[in-house]
Amino acid sequence: MNDLWYKDAVFYELNVRAFYDSNGDGHGDLRGVIEKLDYLVDLGVDCIWLLPIYLSPLKDDGYDIADFYAVLSEYGGLNDLKLLISEAHRRGLRIIMDLVLNHTSDQHPWFQAARTSRNSPYRQYYVWSESTQKYSQTRIIFVDTQPSNWTWDEQAGQYFWHRFYACQPDLNYDSPAVQEEMLRVMRYWLDLGIDGFRADAVPYLFEREGTNCENLPETHAYLKRIRRFVNENYPGRILLCEANQWPEDVRPYFGDGDEFHMGFHFPVMPRIYMALERGQRQPLTWILERTPPIPEDCQWCIFLRNHDELTLEMVTEEERQWMWQVYAPEARMRLNLGIRRRLAPLLGNDRRKIELANSLLLTLPGSPIIYYGDEIGMGDDIWLPDRNGVRTPMQWQNTPNAGFSSAPPDRLYAPVIAREPYTPVRVNVADQVANPGSLWHTLRRMIALRKASRLFGWGSFTWADAGIDSVAAYWREEGPQRLLILNNLSESSHFVSLALPEVLGPEPIDLITNSKLTPASSSRLELELGPFEYRWIRFDG
Ligand code: NOJ
Ligand code: CA
Repeated sequence: MNDLWYKDAVFYELNVRAFYDSNGDGHGDLRGVIEKLDYLVDLGVDCIWLLPIYLSPLKDDGYDIADFYAVLSEYGGLNDLKLLISEAHRRGLRIIMDLVLNHTSDQHPWFQAARTSRNSPYRQYYVWSESTQKYSQTRIIFVDTQPSNWTWDEQAGQYFWHRFYACQPDLNYDSPAVQEEMLRVMRYWLDLGIDGFRADAVPYLFEREGTNCENLPETHAYLKRIRRFVNENYPGRILLCEANQWPEDVRPYFGDGDEFHMGFHFPVMPRIYMALERGQRQPLTWILERTPPIPEDCQWCIFLRNHDELTLEMVTEEERQWMWQVYAPEARMRLNLGIRRRLAPLLGNDRRKIELANSLLLTLPGSPIIYYGDEIGMGDDIWLPDRNGVRTPMQWQNTPNAGFSSAPPDRLYAPVIAREPYTPVRVNVADQVANPGSLWHTLRRMIALRKASRLFGWGSFTWADAGIDSVAAYWREEGPQRLLILNNLSESSHFVSLALPEVLGPEPIDLITNSKLTPASSSRLELELGPFEYRWIRFDG
């Protein structure tokens, strides 16, 4: 087996609740995912990331865990998960799941025990204080709802610390017992055959007075410890880091190749939208130029959207205001420091822009991750609270409940999108699979092209000068293979003229159209790019 599989894998993020309901109770479940594995194989993805499936009161959709060793009953049982893992593996798919290290639910027995007495051995599992003055340099993440990172607990007679909702008390990593507990949790799921973890909210594990309590050396030391644990016992399994930070602050999470295998590239994401709206490549060149190199065996994870709001934490205040103005004109589209909308509505349901965004997703350095439903251009429901509007049922067919569930519509965990042009009448898997001209087929072809060549995952990345700022042009190179990517970010056509390196062979191939190009000279490539057009041109030197 290839231990470095994640270097060129295509990832797919899915919410078990939202994917497919196999038993008609209105909630998606693990058996439902099993029934849809062939769909994912057909699309061409390599690894599925399951959002949290643990026992939970669901105050934060499962990121509030009440038992790290139990599956939420609506999703099925452990046997269903085992079956899912083996059915996925049988098809060559891998599965990673969320590992929520930073906090538990307040319903977790540890917290229940901790709050009862200062003498409970579980008291030290959490972070307590007599006052709210401690760690005062720490920002609040859920700014719309949380007035403080401290909440008074009547029963405990003390304040407890939480970086997210008050129902999610932070674990205390200064406690050796907590450190051990979480290794045990990892062992449990890895023994079941999980291929790794997307580690949630890792910058916040430790707190230290006088700091902003993020990215602390103690936190990195513990993360290196869990990496050693994986290396020693489970080679080939991966750790994917969720650190919503600037590139220079994410960089240490890769360590010397001894911390995370992968890390989300948060700051590049909003800049894809900025570049598209301005018709200018500068936001992308700027952020990639300030992205430090990472160890050879590590990989970035690039995404356009996920289950959270489109975060605007990694932009300036001015850029944030501008992004809100253009992408979230209505107040209810905003949440915390972000935008709670899906890809297709964000891009005005413009097929050209959606394809172009995917061209960037699949060709920038890193492994891409696709958010379920975005492959068919699903819409969102801004009338649902919190981030629920981007977590609605997957639209399989133009039939009742979008083919997601046989339950009566009022029993569904969330309503199917009911606003045009995003209802299942227009947006569903079955119709797009049947229509070779659909977005789904385009994306599937792009994924297949990507998988046919190592250079997307392994190749170097260099900006090219296309003579105009509206075009994001770059080379990807690996061994004798060279790929020139051209993305026209603007709504006008542009004539592009590019110097070609000497070593290139004479007959470039346009991978997207699968046709030969005949450049007028061997030293320049000149061509016309239509509005929002993208080209992937391969030269074999
Ligand atoms: C990040 C997750 O993506 C988000 O959904 C969750 O609310 C927080 N971490 C807290 O776990
Ligand atoms: Ca169900």
